[in-house]
Amino acid sequence: MEKVTVNVRGGYDILIDSGIIDRCGELIKAVKQNGKCAVITDDNVDKYYGERVISSLENAGIKAEKYVFPHGEASKNHSTLLKIYDFLAEHGFTRSDFIAALGGGVVGDTAGFAAATYMRGIDFVQIPTTGISQSDSSVGGKTGVDIKAGKNLVGAFHQPRLVICDTDTLSTLTPEFFSDGMAEVIKHGMIKSKELFELLSTSDIKANLVDIMKRNVSIKGKVVESDEREKGERMLLNFGHTLGHALEKYYDFTGLTHGFAIAVGMSTFTHIAERRGMCKTGVADKLDALFTKCGLPLTDPAPMNELFKLSLGDKKHLASGMNIVICTDIGKSEIVNMSVDEYEKFLKD
Ligand code: GLY
Repeated sequence: MEKVTVNVRGGYDILIDSGIIDRCGELIKAVKQNGKCAVITDDNVDKYYGERVISSLENAGIKAEKYVFPHGEASKNHSTLLKIYDFLAEHGFTRSDFIAALGGGVVGDTAGFAAATYMRGIDFVQIPTTGISQSDSSVGGKTGVDIKAGKNLVGAFHQPRLVICDTDTLSTLTPEFFSDGMAEVIKHGMIKSKELFELLSTSDIKANLVDIMKRNVSIKGKVVESDEREKGERMLLNFGHTLGHALEKYYDFTGLTHGFAIAVGMSTFTHIAERRGMCKTGVADKLDALFTKCGLPLTDPAPMNELFKLSLGDKKHLASGMNIVICTDIGKSEIVNMSVDEYEKFLKD
């Protein structure tokens, strides 16, 4: 089993291996000796792993209750949150108890935010079961829900006590969802690690998944350690996201999954950066080759004019310009501040 420690707020471990979901009880018991556990999950994930997680917890002597909500982004809201609070209260959960978020990003963000706010904050552990949640969202303590005005607009930084990544859970995903998760892994290689990028480009990814995921979360963990609240360095994790989020919004969050959208964002920005001499020649082609190997798209027919407007974000953004993440080479990235006019020219290049 691989272990990566994230040294933020007392520190926590990310454990990675194939098949460890059935050992989650003993692994959690090592960091959380007392208290009962609310396993929060969605109906899809529950079918595969709900009972396995409950029985592992009970075998380790941890009393467990399960709350299941409907899968999908539409559940990531205050209504689900209120139901979770009611469930916790009805089952007598106190500050010494904890939550296990079992599932993808929607479950992790919503259950994590419930943990951040129930009784002013209780412990939680992440058991991510999708590519995006294992490669990105379960690490770093971002929790929250969507509101009408936008995604993730209400939330809190609340670090988990433990993250358990069973790479076998990725094998129940469709090929598209596996590809979706790889986009964040490629992003971490592009912004910080030529070694990870080379490993992805040259190896059989599925055969090296534990090693790849370990390298991947080490990069994310280091960035979070240096800037938990996204005042500087953590913004590098937004590589591909300025345009990616605009694409997700353009298709009303139903047409393009997150990984596919940020792949288009990363490829587009890298081609433009290369043309403008901001990035070493040949990087965009290598990036495109890796996206293609992983079944990810490079372009999208959505009109740039619309994407420009959608990527401007809120008004605060406009006053100080846009913070754009550019990779100057594979494994090297920087934040470039541009006025809105400069950004428009950049995007329409
Ligand atoms: N997903 C980007 C971050 O955690 O900051």
